[in-house]
Amino acid sequence: MSNKAFIFDLDGVIVDTAKYHFLAWKELADSLGFDFTEDQNELLKGVSRVRSLEILLGIGNVQLSQVEKDKYLQEKNKQYLSYIEKMDTREILPGIPELLSFLKAEKIPFALGSASKNARLILENLKLLDDFDAIVDGNDVSTAKPDPEVFLIAAERLGKDPKDCIVIEDAFAGVQAANSAGMTSVAIGDPEVLRGADYNLMSTKELTVTLARQLMN
Ligand code: BG6
Ligand code: MG
Repeated sequence: MSNKAFIFDLDGVIVDTAKYHFLAWKELADSLGFDFTEDQNELLKGVSRVRSLEILLGIGNVQLSQVEKDKYLQEKNKQYLSYIEKMDTREILPGIPELLSFLKAEKIPFALGSASKNARLILENLKLLDDFDAIVDGNDVSTAKPDPEVFLIAAERLGKDPKDCIVIEDAFAGVQAANSAGMTSVAIGDPEVLRGADYNLMSTKELTVTLARQLMN
């Protein structure tokens, strides 16, 4: 039996919430009077909500007081939640249901390692909340990705050595976090953006059972 475990990022790996984060940040940028592109959005992927706002304000060269920042953080999350609330199982990314079913059938443990504070709500809407052996999210960590903390806590909760953990990520910060944790990193998306990953895939569709078996060997 394999000693390996999987750790999944949430946004952009299990479900395509990355587009909703982008839309909500873009609306904020619009209201502050500057443009925000999908390329720039790559910088926000995997990054905490607070840090994302800092990066966004840097892009727009906008200075705000802490009170204003707190207000915009709340507004962004409210907008984001309005998208999330409408989400259902149809938005689970292709390949993910089959992979999770395989891992469950083979009794290979898997955890969530996400920067999001909305992770449990999203998993609940996707009816996946009870499937994970451990859930580590933005409420559990003191340091965000690219720091490895989120993945190291996940490994600990799974009772696994970091070197036996395989991380699936769609963000550069997440790939860096997995690598610093001494785990195997599997990146989904543009390999030019997701530099340094052990494996690069273009889409979650490539997360097949055959690949999962290869990753475990
Ligand atoms: C990450 C996303 O998973 O979670 C980031 O990739 C997001 O874009 C971060 O900023 C925090 O999410 P939330 O739901 O707590 O605002
Ligand atoms: Mg992600």
